[in-house]
Amino acid sequence: MSLKDQLVDKRLPSHVAIIMDGNGRWAKQRGNARVFGHKHGVKAVREVTEAAAELGIQYLTLYAFSTENWNRPKTEVDALMSLLVSTISSETSTLMKNNVRLNTIGNRESLPSGVQAKLQGCIEKTSSNTGLTLTLALSYSSRWEIIEAFKCVASKVKDSQMDINDINANLISDHLSTGGMPDPELMIRTSGEHRISNFLLWQLAYSELYFCDVLWPDFRRDDFYRALLNFQGRERRFGKTGDQIKK
Ligand code: FPP
Repeated sequence: MSLKDQLVDKRLPSHVAIIMDGNGRWAKQRGNARVFGHKHGVKAVREVTEAAAELGIQYLTLYAFSTENWNRPKTEVDALMSLLVSTISSETSTLMKNNVRLNTIGNRESLPSGVQAKLQGCIEKTSSNTGLTLTLALSYSSRWEIIEAFKCVASKVKDSQMDINDINANLISDHLSTGGMPDPELMIRTSGEHRISNFLLWQLAYSELYFCDVLWPDFRRDDFYRALLNFQGRERRFGKTGDQIKK
């Protein structure tokens, strides 16, 4: 039986988040510049997006560019921004075909205007799609979004739009850039690194974490299915005991 056929439909996560790591090492192993790895990473993005859409997963969130990535050499940052523009141009038709809606989280205003315009065009074009929501985390860091949420809530309290006692977990979730989305049930990180790297710190509180050694440009459908199968074998307890969950 194929890995895909082994998946139990009823136990699929509604939201999967991925830290796509290992592009640089993949390129280095082949004696190429880091950007070569990023370019080959696009195929993995396409495969995982199509696989998630086919399975009926509702949300897929990809960490494509962190706030800290601005500190990389300018040539790499520029190449990543160009790659984003060219990928959005070439992949919009695939998103339409697969009924995928594009979304972003992060400090969009810090992106070059050409990238912002391309993203906006694709977001508008795919806005009526009803299948998977593909969220690209761009110029994103979780501490950044938590600071933004704090500022917004504090100013509402200051302006008496809300009482300090209204602050609870749901209200904080709603003020994050993922407001309205369920928290990811599964977070995958490729390339053998075991870190969260400032990604969805609040939202991953109860997520199952899955780490694999595959470098992102080599990540294919079967690697994604393996992560989902591993997720389906986990017992999610949310602080309760195993016996309480089985009742
Ligand atoms: C991390 O690998 C990867 C990135 C910082 C960029 C991810 C970008 C892509 C997969 C391509 C474009 C994506 C979209 C959505 C169009 P790394 O460079 O840190 O790898 P290393 O740890 O081996 O150096």
